[in-house]
Amino acid sequence: TKKIILDCDPGHDDALALTMAVASPKIDVLAVTTSAGNQTPDKTLNNAMRMLTLLHREDIPVAQGNQTPLVKPLETAPEVHGETGLDGADLPDPDFKVQPIPAIELIAKTLQESDEKVTLVVTGPMTNAALFLRVYPDLAKEKIDQIVFMGGAMGLGNWRPSVEFNIFVDPEAAKIVMNFGLPLVMAPLNVTHKAQIMKDEIQAIKQIDNPVGQAFYGLLNFFEQYHENPKWGFKGAPLHDPCTIAWLIDPAMFETDKMNVDVETQGDLTRGETVCDYYQLTDKPQNTEVLLDIDRDKFINLIMESIKSFSN
Ligand code: BDR
Ligand code: CA
Repeated sequence: TKKIILDCDPGHDDALALTMAVASPKIDVLAVTTSAGNQTPDKTLNNAMRMLTLLHREDIPVAQGNQTPLVKPLETAPEVHGETGLDGADLPDPDFKVQPIPAIELIAKTLQESDEKVTLVVTGPMTNAALFLRVYPDLAKEKIDQIVFMGGAMGLGNWRPSVEFNIFVDPEAAKIVMNFGLPLVMAPLNVTHKAQIMKDEIQAIKQIDNPVGQAFYGLLNFFEQYHENPKWGFKGAPLHDPCTIAWLIDPAMFETDKMNVDVETQGDLTRGETVCDYYQLTDKPQNTEVLLDIDRDKFINLIMESIKSFSN
């Protein structure tokens, strides 16, 4: 099994990524840390804990991350994820306690206690990841095998014309992470916009007769509505964050390319843009394996099986 720490800002698609990770026999979720992003830090923390309560995985330690991005003021996404950050379902109140230490200390403790290397999965802004790498660089190099993240794009944007939300929220953090030197796997909008769940597939989730299925029916319905705006040209809703977990479970589902990826932090129009050296125009290291295409049928099948695996 692959040991992971999930740093997330749930968030509908984060919640699904967490669920898939917990469901998979190939993945062992050692800890969950939360970031400020889709909603305020107290809401994303509460959402992670509500999800783990729903999944009956209160044994997984949870810690809260930084209150704000490193440099920018926090900008959240209530239009996408609602006022709670997980609108659309009645989730159980958390029935366990948050760890009384900051996210980066839980990451450090988890790595120190693990005898194997751990994959850091980041599905929100990279604030916690960057702080961790700055405070514990040696531990990171010794114990983290790779950082798999959802964020950025090659030429696309969903928050600014060429800027994706997670990197938009904390570009300085993303720059630290990308230039640290650990191997990176990136799920950019180019692939996540192909990872859409269609309306009839959301209806099929309604038929899954367990509390996790019922919750995701409500959550995905809410999430899908935001993406019905014709400006996107979508037929369903893009499941961004689950691409990271799908990659860890079944990398054969994806087509990828290696290249250097860096982050623009100065540009007037482009602060937070991921600059991807697709044609190798520089001699900067190929630090990132970029997911570029996905077998959507396999992906949806994995999601359905994950949700079905929970009991009544
Ligand atoms: C990313 O931003 C958030 O709204 C989603 O959870 C995902 O991580 C997509 O741009
Ligand atoms: Ca997210």
